[in-house]
Amino acid sequence: MVPEEVFNEIGTNRQRYIERLSEFLQIPSVSTDSAHTADVQKAAAWVLARLKGLGFQVTLHETERHPVVYGHLHTDPDLPTLLIYGHYDVQPPDPLDEWVTPPFSPSTRDGFIYARGATDNKGQWFTYFAAMEAILAVNGKLPINVKVLVEGEEEIGSPSLEPFLKKHLGELETDAIAISDGSQFAPGMPAITYGLRGLSYLQVDVQGPRVDLHSGSFGGLVANPVQVLSQLLAQLKSADGSIAIPGFYDDVRELESRERQEMAALPVDEVELKKYLGVDELVGEPDYGPVERRSARPTLDVNGIWGGFSGEGAKTIIPARAGAKVSMRLVPDQRASTVNGLFENFIRSKAPPGVKLQITDLHGSDPVLVERDQAAMQAAVRAIKIGFGKEPIFIREGGSIPIVSLFKELLGCNNILLMGWGRPDDGAHSPNERFFLEDFHCGIRSAAALLYELKQALTGSNPPPARVAGKASS
Ligand code: BES
Ligand code: ZN
Repeated sequence: MVPEEVFNEIGTNRQRYIERLSEFLQIPSVSTDSAHTADVQKAAAWVLARLKGLGFQVTLHETERHPVVYGHLHTDPDLPTLLIYGHYDVQPPDPLDEWVTPPFSPSTRDGFIYARGATDNKGQWFTYFAAMEAILAVNGKLPINVKVLVEGEEEIGSPSLEPFLKKHLGELETDAIAISDGSQFAPGMPAITYGLRGLSYLQVDVQGPRVDLHSGSFGGLVANPVQVLSQLLAQLKSADGSIAIPGFYDDVRELESRERQEMAALPVDEVELKKYLGVDELVGEPDYGPVERRSARPTLDVNGIWGGFSGEGAKTIIPARAGAKVSMRLVPDQRASTVNGLFENFIRSKAPPGVKLQITDLHGSDPVLVERDQAAMQAAVRAIKIGFGKEPIFIREGGSIPIVSLFKELLGCNNILLMGWGRPDDGAHSPNERFFLEDFHCGIRSAAALLYELKQALTGSNPPPARVAGKASS
């Protein structure tokens, strides 16, 4: 049980946590943009300073790109350990002119704090920092051992984290992992995520003639890369919208009937959803409902396409080159490496003569399903019930958190607790990203409760589940 004084402490400091978060949201830690490298460093230093302030032993690990901040605060070796994961990097804020207030000048309106990174993901993992501060102020120690890993490359596919994990397997050994980097099912409907989609992200470059050519002088002689690319991309999907790459669906695990029933029972107001999205119709596989399509079925999308002349007026050329970025969201038991291979074979088999193709793997991660019926999960259910005042439901999310499948695989930890405090309409990756301050507050309460509930669930008569010791080289 959480001592009441901890909740009182959280209540008393509500405004102070918001101010702290606000200070952090001012750092434009855009991981994909090298112009922001110094800001990314600054954000890492900020995380480090906060953890030090809590009494953690902390190290800033430099990587090939952005630093990993790792710290631990050991309470007692006989108590269970929780690893808290989050990311301090953010997506680029553009289009800037669509923000009501600038992305890195946090502003509070209608109970929301608006800033890039508010919900994805600074505001969400900061709840654990605030919760630990409150517990330490009241009790002087945490109820369990805590490890914290906050990285700066999640939004670019976490390329440095796999080598980091492999190098520090022993240090990172844990009984459970808490990640708050998703959302509730709907406002006021807190949820625990037991499934995440994986991701295959590829770039296709088509090279035709050496330079842009006069389309009158040379039209009729050479293949046009923009047209070739358009035709290739068009063949990726059949007329009914299904993905036409042979073998793409082979490893897709069908939803269990319990899941289908649960998903069908979730309230989805399609009229409201269409309004929010600004579309007249929702599309997708006719045999699956909207919740299934957006979270538990695989997809393929062209994210961007370029090539040729798109300036004012007309310019008569055959462009030299064209390109596109294509992503596929994957579900269990698909593997990013297998799907990449299928994609490449398909595109190459369809390419006409007269062009050169280059296919580049930009990043990938495997999908994840987490065991729902386990003691740590029940602790998370109770913690959310205490923090939000409502029993959470179980959902699958359509987004990806690249490192999660590796946590399972390399750390051998199955107790992965994905508890999104945000809302689906928080605008992650969009202009005017925001985080509801009441969700922030309930997230802090839930985070505090989780530490106590895990202590109860994983010690004494419920010993921590055996770790996969063979995989951890302590
Ligand atoms: N917070 C998201 C992941 C997420 C989104 C979880 C929606 C649940 C619901 C995360 O920061 C993210 O955006 N991930 C990227 C990963 C990619 C850049 C490798 C994603 O899903 O596009
Ligand atoms: Zn994100």
